[in-house]
Amino acid sequence: MKKLPYDWLEEIINLAAEWVVVVDREGIVLFINEAYCDYLGTTQEAALGQNVRDVIENTRMHIVAKTAHAEIASIHTIKGSEMIANRHPLYIGGELVGAVGAVMFRNAADWMAYSNKVQPLIEELDYYKKRFANELKSKYSFHDLAGETEVFLQAKQLAERVSSSQSAVLLTGQSGTGKELFAHAIHGASSRCAFPFVRVNSASIPEQLLESELFGYEEGAFTGAKKGGSKGKFELAHRGTIFLDEIGDMPLAMQSKLLRVLQEKEIERVGGQETKPIDVRIIAATHRDLEAMVKEGTFREDLYYRLNVMKIDVPSLAERKKDLPLLAAVLLKKLARAFDRPQLTLSLEAKNRLLLHSWPGNIRELENILERAVNVMDGTVIRMNHLPLYLQDDPAMEQRSSTEETAIIPLKHAVQQAEKQAFKAALNRSPNKTEAARLLGIGKTKLYDKCREYGL
Ligand SMILES: Nc1ncnc2c1ncn2[C@@H]1O[C@H](COP(=O)(O)OP(=O)(O)O)[C@@H](O)[C@H]1O
Ligand SMILES: [Mg+2]
Repeated sequence: MKKLPYDWLEEIINLAAEWVVVVDREGIVLFINEAYCDYLGTTQEAALGQNVRDVIENTRMHIVAKTAHAEIASIHTIKGSEMIANRHPLYIGGELVGAVGAVMFRNAADWMAYSNKVQPLIEELDYYKKRFANELKSKYSFHDLAGETEVFLQAKQLAERVSSSQSAVLLTGQSGTGKELFAHAIHGASSRCAFPFVRVNSASIPEQLLESELFGYEEGAFTGAKKGGSKGKFELAHRGTIFLDEIGDMPLAMQSKLLRVLQEKEIERVGGQETKPIDVRIIAATHRDLEAMVKEGTFREDLYYRLNVMKIDVPSLAERKKDLPLLAAVLLKKLARAFDRPQLTLSLEAKNRLLLHSWPGNIRELENILERAVNVMDGTVIRMNHLPLYLQDDPAMEQRSSTEETAIIPLKHAVQQAEKQAFKAALNRSPNKTEAARLLGIGKTKLYDKCREYGL
């Protein structure tokens, strides 16, 4: 094979790194290029064979040639200009023979030009790194799970207990009960907490994308596949936790693939050849009745048993209505912070009305109602007229139609509510006040008084 001629080498050095110097172990200059000599105000003839300290001011080449400790990006002042120098020990055949120095930026302006290009890239990278880290961190801890009722505390204690294990967890419960918060908290209290928490919502990802979303894909796996391929959620969650939300909405074909991954503990990217070992803990959640789905054949039985190692049933708000005032207070505190409002509270009337509601949407519904109220009100107290219309009229109707136990509220308010309902009903039947009073079996004056009291 033809060898690179020596004179080429010198030209290459001139092109690649503009200023270069080589010394032996005693610090004698063995090589220095022309451009460097020009700046120093000397010539190659004059510099070669000299002690480097007599050629370059403030040099440290002779030190690096002795200590063999590289000095990277050190500031080197020559003739009043700050340069950035890299100094490397030079080994030939495993033996220290001297040192090589290169000046990267000959002055502040050079450095600025470079840094102006690189700095924004570094900042951008930093931004994405932080965002990535934030998104993959679990956002809630057990401390954030408000509630004091027995059913809730039981679920919370069970969740705390399973955090330290590596077993799969299945969170069941209606929508809006806080299953996602539980998943965050379990991860945050586990030994995996320093690693990612990655959520996948099977219900929101189109079936044909779910596989590549979960397991990633190789370059060219399909049209539109990114160059270099892409990591799937399982890979992103490596050593951490993957939260399979709405697992009951996962199509059967994907259920089989998921089961295989859980059994083999390795994944294969879409369009890929090799398998990759993965170490993730599974937390799954659903508002569906998986057992019923297994019976009707829409959920794989083997996958169900695989996920159902530890089952935690997150109670609905209707089952823990006593927690409503506490939850409302916690949520209002959060809203006050988010909207930059002073202390927000519920009026007694509004609170009693909320206690009568059946809460099909659970805590999420409560959160929405409170947020809406904060948007429509001026002061700091949430009153009846700040509640959505469906809560403003006819609690009795709702109460009658709902199957849950009747909420206990102070008798005075119960009587007032019943009274107001009766007045409304009578006035609806007959807008004529004399007739309405007759229907209610009271005098007209009393009717007028009550109408004023209840704002009818
Ligand atoms: N115990 C709780 N304390 C405070 N807020 C809660 C609690 N549980 C749920 N929330 C709030 O209720 C909303 C719905 O919770 P989420 O975990 O998304 O429910 P799910 O996943 O069961 O549908 C979230 O915005 C969350 O902040
Ligand atoms: Mg959810």
